[in-house]
Amino acid sequence: MWKGSALVLVWALAVPLAAQSPAFGVGRPATPEEIRDLGAAIGPNGDGLPEGSGTVAAGRAVFAAQCSRCHGPKGEGDVGPPLVGGQGTLRTAKPLKTVGSFWPYATTLWDYVNRAMPFDQPGLLKPREVYAVVAYILNLNGIIGDAAVMDAKSLPQVRMPNRDGFVADPRPDVGDTARKPN
Ligand code: HEC
Repeated sequence: MWKGSALVLVWALAVPLAAQSPAFGVGRPATPEEIRDLGAAIGPNGDGLPEGSGTVAAGRAVFAAQCSRCHGPKGEGDVGPPLVGGQGTLRTAKPLKTVGSFWPYATTLWDYVNRAMPFDQPGLLKPREVYAVVAYILNLNGIIGDAAVMDAKSLPQVRMPNRDGFVADPRPDVGDTARKPN
């Protein structure tokens, strides 16, 4: 039994290294410039969000151009996971976890899209496009209205439906990092 666990651990540690190893001829470490260009990591309270803003309408266009081929025209999911729906299902036998039903902070949505989406071209979107597409996804989920504008000020104020659905990690050795940030 323990042998199996040790193997899994070794495998898990080896994968990220292998991805950058010349021996396998695939991948390379990100350059400092590439990491810088992805911008500051955005925490729950929105510190570090850049200038710019985006409307729901502008986000509809960004979504159609860059996201719908994988997430479906209305974010219902396709080869990529659904981004819409699931509110009220988390306590049922078939919970549907989406950014709308599950994620506790809208700022995390901004950071994730900014860094990781589109899946095949991460880092493609400009800050105003990220604000816009995030506004559109929040609007599709019924979290913000049609006329809402998302920027560094308004986005952290968005109250996500599952904001209080998480508990702080009670283990005494975990320390402050797991405590609620605001
Ligand atoms: C080429 C296909 C593809 C495109 C294009 C794409 N995505 Fe994704 N997206 C994915 C896949 C696959 C995942 C799941 C990634 C994972 O779990 O590691 C994902 C995950 C996500 C998630 C997290 C969902 C969750 O609940 O965990 C969000 C949010 C998201 N995408 C937003 C976007 C937005 C916004 C765009 C357009 C700017 C976009 N995606 C474009 C394939 C795509």
